[in-house]
This record gives sequence, structure tokens and C-alpha cells, in this order.
Amino acid sequence: MRADVVTIFPTYLEPLRLSLVGRAQERGTLDVRTHDLRAWTSDVHRTVDDAPYGGGPGMVMRPEPWDAALSEIAESDPTRRPRVVVPTPAGRPFSQRHAEELAREPWLVFCCGRYEGIDSRVIDTWADDEISIGDYVLAGGEVATLVILEAVARLLPGVLGNSASAADDSFSDGLLEAPVYTRPQVWRGAEVPAVLRSGDHAAVARWRRAQALRRTLARRPDLVEHAELSDADRAVLEAVAAEVQQHAATASGAALAADSAAGRGSARDSPDRL
Ligand SMILES: C[S@@+](CC[C@H](N)C(=O)[O-])C[C@H]1O[C@@H](n2cnc3c(N)ncnc32)[C@H](O)[C@@H]1O
Repeated sequence: MRADVVTIFPTYLEPLRLSLVGRAQERGTLDVRTHDLRAWTSDVHRTVDDAPYGGGPGMVMRPEPWDAALSEIAESDPTRRPRVVVPTPAGRPFSQRHAEELAREPWLVFCCGRYEGIDSRVIDTWADDEISIGDYVLAGGEVATLVILEAVARLLPGVLGNSASAADDSFSDGLLEAPVYTRPQVWRGAEVPAVLRSGDHAAVARWRRAQALRRTLARRPDLVEHAELSDADRAVLEAVAAEVQQHAATASGAALAADSAAGRGSARDSPDRL
């Protein structure tokens, strides 16, 4: 995959030389090219921004340098067209599905906005994708590009040491991953679950699936609603629901007993509390 990144801070992208993404580049699986947007300015101050039409605070990135940069980059390979990605808080929320979709592309171009963002006409003309990495506002698109590119790069063939690990990751099957453990067997008094040491691969797989379901139900119930579930999965979820009900009944019984011992029985049930 080829990935071009246009930014006014090319050094922000240097972490892409490290670790897994760095190795993917050394092996030639990924070819990241970082460009300084100011190279496409024509004035002596290398200006990339101007005041917003309609007034208001901050500055907006001018369209001309972006158009010149994107035209030159896109024309650098006449045999194909890149998919142009603009990170923005107004974009489609980034997800593992989205990363998988981008990992199938041969060529991506990232446009890193700064200030109040890029003139909207550039987005209308060039963007194939507007992506948000979350409901918060960063100072620029560089960190968002790092996030997106790392999520995409680890899905490229041969990038992960063990190709099975991407398939086991959280979100790949719609659920969070089960908890993981390594040596020592006992640490601070906490023991690794016996099933993981049993050597029974089918039992380990069942345990992991059940843990993934429990964890996802507790932390991200929205994901469970959309996950593909087997009959065995549904049985696990019913067992969890029964446990939760049992726990709630026990807790409420204990609270009533404590209230009655303290002579507060009526306060808890009073209409004022409802
Ligand atoms: C200060 S932000 C501009 C925010 C813009 N005024 C708004 O309210 O939507 C500057 C740049 O950071 C990037 N950015 C900020 N938050 C982001 C997010 N959550 N996801 C992706 N990119 C983001 C975008 O490239 C954006 O153009």
C-alpha cells in the first residue's frame, strides 16, 4: 500500500518509522510519503491560512495549496487514483470495519487540517472519506492520521507476526477480546484461570468466547446488539442475565435487612424516593 500524508508538520508523522508500521515500510508492504503543504505555496511567507468568511475566531486553510498538492500527488501515478481521506471531527466515526475497508485500498492520501480546518471546497472536490477518530477536537489531523494508518497497516498482509491475531482482536467479530494472561501463573495472589493451562483447546476457545461475551455485555452492550451470535452465545448471555438478576435480588435483600436493622424501613419505600 502507498500512503501519502500532506501536513504542515511533517515531523509529526515520524512515529510511523517505528515498530510494526516502521517494519512494514522496511519490508516494502507499506510506502509512506510525507509532504509539507507549504511546498505548494507561492508567496514569500509560505502562507497556508486566511481569515474565515463570515467572521469568527481562528483561521481557515486556503484552498490553493491543497489543490496544487493533491493534484501533483494524484498525478504522480497515472495508472490509478488514490482514495483521499480527510480526518475531521465532522467525519464518519472510525471503526475496525472502516480500517478493514481502507486496508483493501492500494493507495491512500491523508489531508491533515489545522486551525479551524480546510476550506470546504477542497473537501467537496477531493475527499472520498471524511473520518473522525472520536467525539473530541484535536489541534490537527496528524494524530488522527497516525491512528488511522496504524490501524490500517496492521491489517496489511504479513505485517502482524501471527496472521491469526488480527482476526482474534477486539471488534473483528463484533465483540471485545477476552482477557489475556502470561507467566507467572500466580502474580500478587491472582492465578491465571485453570482452563487456559489445561491444554484443552476446545475448552479454551469456549472460555474465551464466553469471556468476550461477558466483557462486551458489561462494557459495550451496544456491540452485543449487532454481533452475530450462535445458540451457545445466547445461552451464555441468558446465564449472565440470570446472574445479574440474582445479584440484584441479593443486594436489595441485604439493603432491606440493613434498613430494617437500623429502623429505616419506611424511608427506602417512601413515595418521595420514587
Ligand atoms: C482544531 S481542529 C478543527 C475543528 C473544527 N473547527 C471543528 O469544530 O470541527 C483542526 C483539525 O484537526 C483535525 N481533527 C480534530 N479533531 C479531530 C477528530 N476528532 N478526528 C479527526 N480529525 C480531527 C482535523 O483535521 C481538523 O481540521
